[in-house]
Amino acid sequence: MNTDLIIDLHAIKRARTDFPIHPLLGERWSPRAFADRQVERADLLSLFEAARWSASGGNGQPWSFVVATQAEHEAYAALADCLAASNAEWATRAPVLVLAVTLTVRKDQPYRVGLFDLGLAVQNLVVQATSLGLVVHPMGGFSKEAARDRFKIPADHEPVVMLAIGYLGDPATLSEQNRSREVAPRQRKPLGELVFGELWGQPSPLLSADD
Ligand SMILES: Cc1cc2nc3c(=O)[nH]c(=O)nc-3n(C[C@H](O)[C@H](O)[C@H](O)COP(=O)(O)O)c2cc1C
Repeated sequence: MNTDLIIDLHAIKRARTDFPIHPLLGERWSPRAFADRQVERADLLSLFEAARWSASGGNGQPWSFVVATQAEHEAYAALADCLAASNAEWATRAPVLVLAVTLTVRKDQPYRVGLFDLGLAVQNLVVQATSLGLVVHPMGGFSKEAARDRFKIPADHEPVVMLAIGYLGDPATLSEQNRSREVAPRQRKPLGELVFGELWGQPSPLLSADD
């Protein structure tokens, strides 16, 4: 593994912010190259512990996770089989795969905040992972039907996202297209396109204040 390249990659990928943010947030990104290094069981469990302590509407805690390490051959292969080919190509080098699921129906009524709550829980997991030197890549590209069938997910739950988790690896292990994405700086819309004041679409005056 080329350590210099990985150090440079952290510099390239770090968020270029207009205002300071916590390093754990600025240093998080979604890599595709994973190192051949397993995640310690205690670290892995800390990720789910972090998710468990997320906020949720009415403390409904609608989230569930299916997890497999590469050592759990059958479950890992079953999760890998759910992935779209474009994701499986790189994500199956990750030592851990996770399927994140949320409750969608409760007491015969649609459970409207499930997706939001799951998103918060996954972000807790991701921030905890970053603090442990791990990387997480979320993936919407997978077959929900295949996941539902294989893992017997009940009808009142929905598979939402899969996560590839591990340690940052060498971009040289990737296809040419993914390698160039791996080493490109990250892009974001400017704050003025998402923080509004008097009217929708008009940047908040906070953004043009002098101090
Ligand atoms: C819900 C969700 C679904 C995503 N699905 C995929 C995916 O299927 N394949 C992929 O390579 N990246 C996927 N991503 C990663 C995004 O492309 C990535 O987060 C985005 O480009 C911003 O880059 P960053 O996470 O490095 O800041 C997904 C991210 C999220 C949050």
